[in-house]
Amino acid sequence: MHDNLHSIVMLIDKIEALKGQIAELKADNEAALEELRIKYLSKKGEVAALFNEFKSVAPEQKREMGQRLNELKNLATERINCLKETFKAQEKEKNKIDITRPAFPAELGTRHPISVVRKQIIDIFSRLGFTLADGPEVEDDWHVFSALNFAADHPARDMQDTFFIEQDKDDVARNIVLRSHTSSVQVRTMETHKPPIRIICPGRVYRNEAITARAHCFFHQIEGLYIDKGVTFADLRQVLLNFAQELFGTDTKIRLRPSYFPFTEPSAEMDVSCMLCGGEGCGFCKHTGWVEILGCGMVDPNVLEASGIDSKVYSGYAFGLGIERITNLKYMVKDLRMFSENDVRFLEEFKSAH
Ligand code: DAH
Repeated sequence: MHDNLHSIVMLIDKIEALKGQIAELKADNEAALEELRIKYLSKKGEVAALFNEFKSVAPEQKREMGQRLNELKNLATERINCLKETFKAQEKEKNKIDITRPAFPAELGTRHPISVVRKQIIDIFSRLGFTLADGPEVEDDWHVFSALNFAADHPARDMQDTFFIEQDKDDVARNIVLRSHTSSVQVRTMETHKPPIRIICPGRVYRNEAITARAHCFFHQIEGLYIDKGVTFADLRQVLLNFAQELFGTDTKIRLRPSYFPFTEPSAEMDVSCMLCGGEGCGFCKHTGWVEILGCGMVDPNVLEASGIDSKVYSGYAFGLGIERITNLKYMVKDLRMFSENDVRFLEEFKSAH
């Protein structure tokens, strides 16, 4: 009797121990699962071994032990089936196309810094009523020089400055050049439009210069022109003040210094208060508190007449600025060559600019 009790307790322990193992069973693949099935559920498996021991259980305990063993067998079968289901589901999942999955993100490029600043400038002048104009980059002498009051022997016509497509040493009027400034578009517009004229012209210009950090053989300008009755220098100053404050901030001050351009009289160069020190003086502004940003003036009557506009009735102002120069000042770019090297690391710095 004592022996019998002992073997029953042992059997119950074994059953419970197996139950514990079975509840924890894991398999990563079909083959591992089959191994488990053989280990626990085959004819020589662990469950079958306990059924063998059941044969020697005393008749009065058979009912209870039989129940326990059947529970164990069911548990093992269920566990193995459950693992199999998991595999099947995973397999199905693998082959399924999930149409709700977000797409791979499309990498967006960035605008070129020159385009960013050109747009900023155009937006400011558009709000002031200026419309866009353009003209050819390959130009004749008339539009680049003669109509703009350049004397025939003016040094800007010289080989050192201008790229010639065709050059006639005896008759400069026959020269065809790559335009060296966007002022040529002033002439084109005045020839084809009647005042009032209020335009800005962004475009690429070319100069025969060695490429260094501070000079390039091509760069970008924006030209401005306003022609109407009674336009004065005060109008010019106010528009440029507004422009500078919109571009560099409302605290920005401007100053106009007398200068010379063949196509304006009087002419001036405009400085803005240094964007780094606010005018106090620092290394950036060479301790002057000012940085130069553009050239401007009242359109010379000769230029109006050359384009067929009556200078006794109309007056106007013009201005011209370099986009690279403004970009350098706004974003502290120190080397002009960065703009044309297309180094992605440089271009990506302008991701947040717009
Ligand atoms: N055309 C000049 C240049 O290329 C810039 C300029 C100065 C344009 C004064 C203007 C102006 O319209 O009034 O350096």
